[in-house]
Amino acid sequence: MASLICFVFPINTTLPFHLFPSPTQTTNGISSHLLFLCSNLDHFPLPLSSKERMLGKQAIFFNRGRYHAKLRKLVLRAFTPDAIKSFVPNIESVAEHSLRSLEGRLVTTFHEMKTYTFDVALLSIFGKDRVLYREDLKRWYYVLEKGYNSMPVNLVGTLFNKSMNARKEIARILAKIISSRRQTKADCHDLLESFMSDEQGLTDEQITDNIIGVIFAARDTTASVLTWIIKYLGENPSVLEAVTVRVLLFLIRISREIIR
Ligand code: HEM
Repeated sequence: MASLICFVFPINTTLPFHLFPSPTQTTNGISSHLLFLCSNLDHFPLPLSSKERMLGKQAIFFNRGRYHAKLRKLVLRAFTPDAIKSFVPNIESVAEHSLRSLEGRLVTTFHEMKTYTFDVALLSIFGKDRVLYREDLKRWYYVLEKGYNSMPVNLVGTLFNKSMNARKEIARILAKIISSRRQTKADCHDLLESFMSDEQGLTDEQITDNIIGVIFAARDTTASVLTWIIKYLGENPSVLEAVTVRVLLFLIRISREIIR
C-alpha cells in the first residue's frame, strides 16, 4: 500500500487525503528521514490515534502532566535495583531455559530474544502469577503486535481488526489477574502491585493500558540491544573473552561477599 501511494504521489508531498486519521506526508531518502527525526516533533501529528487505540489511550506514552508524572513514578519504583533484586534468580532461570531451548536448532537471534524479553517482561509485571496466564497472554499479545503497523481499517479479517480483538482478550485476562490480586492481597513487589497500590488508585483500564504499554516498550527495544550485543561479541572473540573474564570476576566477588 505504502509503495503504491509513493508511486502515485510524488515524494515529499502532503497527501490530499488523510491516510491515517492525520495529515500524511510521503518521504524518501536520508535527508527527509533526518528532517523527520531531527525536527521539532510538535509539528508532527503524533501519536497516531490508531496506535493509541491499540495500546490504550491511558498508556504513559500518550499522556502528559500530572497523570504522566504519576505513571512514571509507579513504573520507576518497580524497576529500581532494590525492587528487581528478588527477580534476579527468576530472570536467570528464564535465561537458562531460553539458552537450553536453542541447543541444536538454527535460530533467528532477534526472534529468540523477543521471546526471552517477553518472558522477562511478564516476570517483572506479574511475578509468580505469570505462570498461570503466560501462554494466553503470549498468544494474544503476538496477534496484537502483528497488527501494530497495519493500516487502521477495522474490518473483519484485517490485521488491524485482529489486533483490536486481541487487545480485548488481553484486557479480559488482565481483569482476571487484577481481580484475583485484589482478593488475595499478595505482597508481590512487581509492576502490577506498583500500579495497584497507588494511593490515589489507578482504574483497571488505566492499569491495562499501561501493562500493554510497558510490554510494548520493553520488548523489541531490549531484544534489539541483545541481538546487537550477541552479533558483536560473536564477531569479536577477544572482546567476548574480556567480557567473560569481567563477568566471572564479578561473580566471584559477589559470592565471596555472600559467604562473608
Ligand atoms: C534498550 C532498551 C530500551 C530502549 C532503547 C528504550 C528506548 C526508549 C525511548 C527512546 C523512549 C522514549 C523516550 C521519550 O519519549 O522521551 C522510551 C520510553 C519508555 N520506555 Fe523504554 N527503552 C528500552 C527499554 C525499556 C524497558 C525494559 C522498559 C520497561 C519498563 C521501558 C519502558 C519505557 C516507558 C514506560 C517509556 C515511557 C516513558 C515516559 O513517557 O515517561 N523501556 N524508551
